[in-house]
Amino acid sequence: MKKRIIFATGNEGKMREIREILKDLDYEILSLKEAGIDIDIVEDGETFEENAVIKATAVMRACGEIVLADDSGLEIDYLNKEPGVMSARYMGENTSYRIKNQILIDRLDGVPDEKRTARFVCVVAAAFPDGRVETRRGTIEGRIAHEPAGENGFGYDPIFYYPERKMTTAQMSPEEKNKLSHRGKALRLIREIL
Ligand code: IMP
Repeated sequence: MKKRIIFATGNEGKMREIREILKDLDYEILSLKEAGIDIDIVEDGETFEENAVIKATAVMRACGEIVLADDSGLEIDYLNKEPGVMSARYMGENTSYRIKNQILIDRLDGVPDEKRTARFVCVVAAAFPDGRVETRRGTIEGRIAHEPAGENGFGYDPIFYYPERKMTTAQMSPEEKNKLSHRGKALRLIREIL
């Protein structure tokens, strides 16, 4: 039987990216739901690192298997790195990203390109049954678009413009985004220690 890794997320968009990036590993990757794990985790850390470790450790304690967790978000320099660790909760979890993205664009109304710099950050934590915990961080630098574009990806992708490709991360194919993205980078770093 293949060894298992539980990835502590309920986000299907992330799970698709994660499976693609870790597909060459000799592990079966299961989401919380697929592993039948249902626990409430309070993500009250102040940094991406703290939250990733909180999630990975809580789930590892509940199931005793190797657990990966990521914490990620969008930092907009002009807004003092908001929404940051609050990215998922920004404007409330039930507010659609169409609205969240429009509000962010409105908050940057009139701000010139050179001041619209932003980055996606992803920290992946690995919690092992022997108590060892490791974290790795990946980032992608871009800027906030003047209007949303693209249908791929999820969350803030339609407003995250990547100048080198002259498109948003929502206009990239999944393969292209995985090559460049914060999550891709952090997962490839964590893959080295599994
Ligand atoms: P987490 O589940 O606490 O890591 O929340 C991450 C949140 O940051 C997501 O719900 C999105 O709002 C945002 N985010 C993280 N990575 C991405 C990405 O690759 N594209 C778009 N939004 C992202």
